[in-house]
Amino acid sequence: MSKQFDVIVIGGGPGGYVAAIRAAQLGFSVACIDAWKNDQGGPALGGTCTNVGCIPSKALLQSSEHFDQAKNHFAEHGIAVEGLSINVAQMLARKNMVVKQNNDGIQYLFKKNKVTFFHGRGSFVKALEGGYLINVAGPMADALVGRHIIVATGSSPRALPGAAFDEERILSNEGALRLNTVPEKLALIGSGVIGLEMGSVWRRLGAQVTILEGLPTFLGMLDEQVAKEAYKAFTKQGLRIELGVAVGEVATSENGVSVLYTNAKGEAQVLEADRLIVSIGRTPNTTGLNAAAVGLQLDERGAVVVDGDCKTNLPGVWAVGDVVRGPMLAHKAEEEGVAVAERIAGQHGHVNFNTIPGVIYTSPEIAWVGQNEQQLKALGRAYKAGVFPFMANGRARALGDTTGFVKFLADATSDEILGVHIIGPQASELIAEAVVAMEFKASAEDIARICHAHPSLSEATKEAALAVDKRTLNF
Ligand code: FAD
Ligand code: NAI
Repeated sequence: MSKQFDVIVIGGGPGGYVAAIRAAQLGFSVACIDAWKNDQGGPALGGTCTNVGCIPSKALLQSSEHFDQAKNHFAEHGIAVEGLSINVAQMLARKNMVVKQNNDGIQYLFKKNKVTFFHGRGSFVKALEGGYLINVAGPMADALVGRHIIVATGSSPRALPGAAFDEERILSNEGALRLNTVPEKLALIGSGVIGLEMGSVWRRLGAQVTILEGLPTFLGMLDEQVAKEAYKAFTKQGLRIELGVAVGEVATSENGVSVLYTNAKGEAQVLEADRLIVSIGRTPNTTGLNAAAVGLQLDERGAVVVDGDCKTNLPGVWAVGDVVRGPMLAHKAEEEGVAVAERIAGQHGHVNFNTIPGVIYTSPEIAWVGQNEQQLKALGRAYKAGVFPFMANGRARALGDTTGFVKFLADATSDEILGVHIIGPQASELIAEAVVAMEFKASAEDIARICHAHPSLSEATKEAALAVDKRTLNF
């Protein structure tokens, strides 16, 4: 006899586990099936984000930032460090501990909220009257019936054609987060978010890093002024970034890897490195879901087709997170998960796609929300811009980190904030104020009139809002 649930969530990443918790809070009986295995073969809830994404990458970014500070900046404070070295094994052990704390935290949350967890791989068997039969294969093999199914199976790294990941020489994000020595020469393909974050980690620890990017523009999705500042900062730090290249054959040997490519001038080049990280985007996880058994519609990329409310073509089947359209971000997946659980309960779950912030956790950090200048120009929308540099912010000077600026874009007539773009210290935290402001449809003047603590980096946000009206106080 199959076990019956109101809601079955397939996938225990940020989209799935949050959907499961919210559905349980709303009074439904909920099962969550997740296939991720830790090194011992046990469950490791949290998906890509917790195991090989957001959390471990931020742990390594933190460790490598400490190393960089000690090496290059402590002396300014009068702190002398002798015999500085990096113990990579210890750095990885700390990262693994942080990951495990998060895995265990989600298991605890499932118990607390009475979500039934199944460790294994979920797939559709068939549609039933008023529900679906789901098979669980693996450690906790079972058959489940659910009235509502939420597909939250996430995404996997995309490989270069002819250069499969061996996680030894050709690394995906998984291998990049497990490197147990600092490579002398590290090559990366793709100067997107993973390329820059992972490139920064290993550069700080001493690797000579080269990033090959196919597009002629650097970080084309960012406000151009921010992208320009970022390029300046990263190349000054020593990241070698080549734009507009066409990558050809990749060959591995016992000692390294070589990448044939054509540069922007059309010249044939070879890049030799100890390791290669390929970070050229990700593909949705739908193979193994047996979507065809129930006629679940997928697009040409293999993503589950959904409408603005995360409804699929099948009644009672929903999909959220990386497996559907939209930015591949953990907080976007979570928002969709919560909204779907609320819609199942007949509530008006809502995701505002215009106020989903983006962050790149490099140094300087980059964060943005809403529209950038190029987008506003393309839309023909009249806007005013206000920029305030961290160089003129007292807290940034005290921190010794004055790179970058805060930039506001506001409607020329109503002064409504249309976008905020930050490059500089703690941009990931500062962006939250802009998100709140935009959610409340605030004007730039609203922020300019709010008291911000002194000295704080957030004063740069207030000053950028003042700059929209050309009346900064400290610049
Ligand atoms: P996932 O996290 O991929 O989870 C899906 C889960 O479903 C996995 O556990 C998978 O094993 C499981 N699964 C798949 N198929 C089945 C099946 N048939 N049955 C059972 N289980 C199944 N985003 C940010 O917002 N901030 C960041 O700082 C950030 N850093 C990142 C760094 C890296 C290196 C990477 C790779 C990604 C990063 N991301 C970041 C992106 C973020 O990890 C994803 O957007 C997020 O994890 C998507 O959540 P999800 O729940 O949709 O899918
Ligand atoms: P990405 O989409 O950010 O960047 C991929 C880059 O590779 C692009 O610049 C693209 O032009 C380039 N590229 C693609 N094919 C290429 C080729 N054949 N040769 C050379 N260059 C090529 O993807 P990335 O970095 O792999 O990250 C995947 C996802 O993970 C992103 O969508 C991102 O949302 C998410 N992520 C988010 C983070 C964050 O929020 N801080 C951190 C890391 C990842």
